[in-house]
Amino acid sequence: MLDRVLVISVPGGPPRVVPAGEPLLRGDDLGVLRGDGVFETLHVRSGRPFLLAEHLDRMARSAERLDLPLPPVPRLEALADTACGAWAAHREGALRLVCTRGPEDGGEPTLFATVAGIKDALRDQRRAGIRVVTASLGVTADARDGAPWLLGGVKSLSYAANMAAQRWAAAQGVDDVLYVSSDGQVLEGPTSTVVWRDSGVLATVPDSTGILPGTTAAHLLSRAAELGLTAELRMAVPADLLAADGVWFASSVRGVVPFTELDGKPLTVDPLTPGLRDLLGYPA
Ligand SMILES: Cc1ncc(COP(=O)(O)O)c(C=O)c1O
Repeated sequence: MLDRVLVISVPGGPPRVVPAGEPLLRGDDLGVLRGDGVFETLHVRSGRPFLLAEHLDRMARSAERLDLPLPPVPRLEALADTACGAWAAHREGALRLVCTRGPEDGGEPTLFATVAGIKDALRDQRRAGIRVVTASLGVTADARDGAPWLLGGVKSLSYAANMAAQRWAAAQGVDDVLYVSSDGQVLEGPTSTVVWRDSGVLATVPDSTGILPGTTAAHLLSRAAELGLTAELRMAVPADLLAADGVWFASSVRGVVPFTELDGKPLTVDPLTPGLRDLLGYPA
């Protein structure tokens, strides 16, 4: 079985597994030149992608916001199937589905997939938790709602700023960043949705703030009743999280990881954490 799977989708034909190390993209592809495209990252377990329909829905919404002609769902499903089929079923993996606008001089969007293992450092966070610092995104919590060009809620390929935020966190000796708006409201992480428990309520931030609607957090909240909780979309400031019973980052790759510290202040890991992880079906 391959350690990294690359698959290219060919219009009118079956997806083709490409040997790792062989180029998939043209140098003038707008996905490379401008980060112009959309993607999804899914968790692969038992050889299948988790929450595939939800991710394909979000990919379609992202593509629509970019006026990008995303290939039809059966072609995306065939791509996901081929990629997961070439991945060892016993191994957890991260499947990326990527659609760029294609070559600069016109032509078809480029559609491809990769599957890779999940880094041990990320898997360890499920048990050990993470230390997080807040960082301003520089816009108010309602700014992106009235400014579609800011691409709030769109999973575009332009993730350089998100990666820079995570490097900035690492340079300070912590694990990740929690973005806050310029008016002090909690938003999300660069690659995760924030979820917290306030007594019997499991909460996350509303999409109207321009955050990416997380598939993992949505799934968790939809099953909150199984843990005796009710689900709520709420605005919060960092002090609300410090006072919460538990705070987590949720994402397809990480699953659900507890905060152990926010801006240098300790947070207790909620005993419900293993229950949330099991609900999502992620290994510890
Ligand atoms: C900015 C951002 N927010 C939230 C998430 C979590 O989304 P999901 O749970 O669908 O992986 C991601 C995941 O990549 C993200 O990039």
